[in-house]
Amino acid sequence: MLLQIEIERRMSPEHKPYTLTLKYETENKSETVAAMLQSINSNSRRQDAEGKSFEPVRWECSCLQKKCGACAMVINGRPMLACDAKLLEAAKRGRIAIGPLKKFPPVADLIVDRGPMLAALSEAKLWLTEQGLVKAENTDLAFEASRCLQCGCCLEVCPNFYAGGSFMGMAAAMPGSRLLLAAGETDKAALAAEYKKHVYGGCGKSLACRSICPAGIDIEALLVNSNAAAVWKRPWRKK
Ligand code: SF4
Ligand code: SF4
Ligand code: FES
Repeated sequence: MLLQIEIERRMSPEHKPYTLTLKYETENKSETVAAMLQSINSNSRRQDAEGKSFEPVRWECSCLQKKCGACAMVINGRPMLACDAKLLEAAKRGRIAIGPLKKFPPVADLIVDRGPMLAALSEAKLWLTEQGLVKAENTDLAFEASRCLQCGCCLEVCPNFYAGGSFMGMAAAMPGSRLLLAAGETDKAALAAEYKKHVYGGCGKSLACRSICPAGIDIEALLVNSNAAAVWKRPWRKK
């Protein structure tokens, strides 16, 4: 099948974005967007749809196995991992539009600066100061939370998240939830306060993030548990 690929490019954060359009032939149902980008970039005779040569498209990847989150980008309007997005499945009427995540500062082509998301984890003090232990009945939930890739796809669709804002979204809520499940009395109180301030207070609970998460994390179950710990019940408090 001959696909039309449209890639949003920019030379640097200061430059305006433009669209690179090219034709790409594939019949391989397993081929991913990541494999397509690698194939294009490795072709020394790469040409756009008008036959003009172009520089390799800059994008990030590491594991190519849906485990690191580095290749998150917007594919036909949906934030996805390029190494997980099947080219022929993602195509709409033979066309695929690819662009960078929009909630983070642009760097170049499909690369964005996800530093604000990582800085938020530090700002929310997401760590334990005392020994923590996940109770046996919470191991499934803790495992779910630990599967977060910090890819940022959930933030892309979240109506309440913007980089640098007080609301930190699910990318912070997942590690926060994981820590809440292991924290001792002192840490739990501190984490619950941060969770309330940076997640519970700003989250509309629409769960638009749930279906977009490429790791398929049970975000709803974790939210229910963390909201209860942070707001409604405080079983660790002495009466
Ligand atoms: S439930 Fe809605 S507001 Fe809350 S993090 Fe998900 S998308 Fe954002
Ligand atoms: S919750 Fe899912 S979509 Fe959000 S950062 Fe973690 S893995 Fe990515
Ligand atoms: S390259 Fe690691 S998730 Fe895609």
